[in-house]
Amino acid sequence: MFKLKPNQVDRVDGRQKVTGSATYAAEYDFPNLAYGVLACSPVASGEINAIDIKKAEQAPGVLSVICHANIDLPPGYATDPKNEQPSKEYKIFKDNIVRFAGQPIALVIADSFERAVYAASLVKAQYTKTPAQTDFEKARNNGKPVTGGDEFKDYVRGQADAYKNAPVKIEAEYSIPLEVHNPMEMHAVTVVWEGDEKVTVYDKTQSLMDAQRNVMKLFNLKKENVHIICKFMGGAFGSAFSFWPHTMAALIGAKKIGRPLKVMLSRDQMFTLVGYRPQAHQKLGIGATKDGKLTGITHNADAMTATYETFTEGIVNISRTLYACPNVNTRYKVFPLNLSVPTWMRGPGETTGTYALESAIDEMAYAVNIDPLEFRLLNYSENDPEHNRPHSSKFLREAYQMGAEKIGWKDRDPKPRSMKEGKLLAGYGMGTGVFIAWRGGASLSAKFTRDGELILQTAVTDMGPGTATAMTKLASDKFGLPANKIKFVMGDSDLPPGIFQGGSGTMSSLGTTVNNAMLTLKQKLVDILKTTSIFHTEKIHEVDLKDLVFEDGNVMLADEPTRKISYTEILKLGGTPQLEILEKSDGNSDQQYTSYSYSAHFVKVLVHPLTGVVTVDKVVSAVDAGTIVNMETARSQIIGGVIGGIGMALMEEGVIDHRYGKWINNNFADYHVPINKDVPHIEALFVNKPDPWLNPIGSKGLGEVSMVGFPAAVANAVYHATGKRIRELPITPDKVI
Ligand code: MOS
Repeated sequence: MFKLKPNQVDRVDGRQKVTGSATYAAEYDFPNLAYGVLACSPVASGEINAIDIKKAEQAPGVLSVICHANIDLPPGYATDPKNEQPSKEYKIFKDNIVRFAGQPIALVIADSFERAVYAASLVKAQYTKTPAQTDFEKARNNGKPVTGGDEFKDYVRGQADAYKNAPVKIEAEYSIPLEVHNPMEMHAVTVVWEGDEKVTVYDKTQSLMDAQRNVMKLFNLKKENVHIICKFMGGAFGSAFSFWPHTMAALIGAKKIGRPLKVMLSRDQMFTLVGYRPQAHQKLGIGATKDGKLTGITHNADAMTATYETFTEGIVNISRTLYACPNVNTRYKVFPLNLSVPTWMRGPGETTGTYALESAIDEMAYAVNIDPLEFRLLNYSENDPEHNRPHSSKFLREAYQMGAEKIGWKDRDPKPRSMKEGKLLAGYGMGTGVFIAWRGGASLSAKFTRDGELILQTAVTDMGPGTATAMTKLASDKFGLPANKIKFVMGDSDLPPGIFQGGSGTMSSLGTTVNNAMLTLKQKLVDILKTTSIFHTEKIHEVDLKDLVFEDGNVMLADEPTRKISYTEILKLGGTPQLEILEKSDGNSDQQYTSYSYSAHFVKVLVHPLTGVVTVDKVVSAVDAGTIVNMETARSQIIGGVIGGIGMALMEEGVIDHRYGKWINNNFADYHVPINKDVPHIEALFVNKPDPWLNPIGSKGLGEVSMVGFPAAVANAVYHATGKRIRELPITPDKVI
């Protein structure tokens, strides 16, 4: 029997993290460990004519310098002519082509990190430069978008551009700059080869399985000979999925020198070598009747990608589904630039897209003179209008209500520039977040011993949300065992294949497996019970799981709770040394429902009328993510996403000098992110109602949806405070005054 308990499990790895005993990818030490540092191209486009690595090779402590001119190409570099265009493909040191400024041109390996840094500064190359285009606005106005691929097909429901004929219409353009994940922990990798056929990689990765596959492919290795370990990550937010150049370089370098090798990126390299959120320009056209019924939505988005690889994401997708609107059309294009390739970044395209959509919806609400919340409720989509099918659950209405009540939405004066607090202008704004909820396959081993300990093992990693903690809480609830008796082991590709961590899928996917494993274990206990006469009752032989209560490591009959027996006692009675199972659960491929998680963000800002400085004063984010397994870590997820959203709304902006195609602000002094003073009290509320269909635990996932919709809430609050629409993020003081 499952009871949702009010108790929380504190971070099971909290002590390790705060005492420094948690080991991150750059913190593994080995005898004879060597250090690799990448030397990178200052040129954004062209070819290397000559490269001088002699000085670096002769520098003190240098063991090896690897570049395109001397590399032993690994077997995985061979190009399959059917699938790959050799001139575009980028594999580190494979050729002399330079595709972006900051592209690695050499890996310098030395016996100390400092010596490697110094020697890397001695690598010099001569280039034939070709014109580099890094200016997104120029590219989207004069350049050619990438063609082919379903994601570039226009979506039309009803009539295209119907908004143009609406009684009330708005047209507006919104832009976001390039933004970078910048987790505190730098990306790093430590590689240990045993001979030429076996390797252990201490990596920073959101997907052990993908990391393993990539290494297998690169060197033609057997699965059992590629061991990936990632025990802890200091944030990733989407930046730790891909097979990045520094990881390839470390693998190649370690093999060449026959010693363990560590490569860690510097902060400036974090801006070019591990992806970013692509700059985007969006045009929204919205039409409505005078009484506020949406009649048409047109959402066009242009974004950037690299010349050598195409990255796409769902920028326009939410506009097709969030509101009940008969006529919706979307268009999405990406333009290649001489920059490194973008990747997913927290809430990915949905965050970018809802910034524009939820800003435009706010503009329309004011245009028809209806409260922005009421306007959203008036156009609430009960079913998924894109696929014309029901939602497995949608408690967005409840989230709206919870959030509005908590922030005091109805007490505000809706008139723009009408509210003041002292000398400051005050404003309230809201924005809706939506992110797909899904379930993938995952497996897990579970072992319950006679010591009363439950050990769960699976190949998943944790970029910070507290996967081990939440899974411990889930297992504790489902198996009826105190959390301190449960050990959750992860971060190792030798464990049963788990699920990648990203796209808010860990709880739904792996949670299903944990849930099912706990059921299986309980059934095994009952099977043993049935062979005994412990309850001195005939009933035990026909007893079913549902007739029993599992609590604090004891089983009792639901109708006779005074008599109980401990799990360990059951094992002893049955002569069973331990219970051990391997549980596998499948993903959900059924298409009869649409599942999304939702967030309703409410923000209060204060704006200085003279300096234009915007301060986020209060945040209430109410979330429908299905059942919340562990309140404390769920709350932290929302707080994290909101802080990312404050950065996106007010500060973050990657600036490239287009004359050289190089970064201007690739450091934390110039690339601004929120600090403590920028972050107010953040109230995270949860509807906490189970999704009855997606998985047996009822959870929909909440990592991404914490950020989706938030930047629009800030922009809308700034409008309410000042009467000024700022359609270009970040909302810096120069734009406000
Ligand atoms: Mo998700 S983009 O992996 O934070």
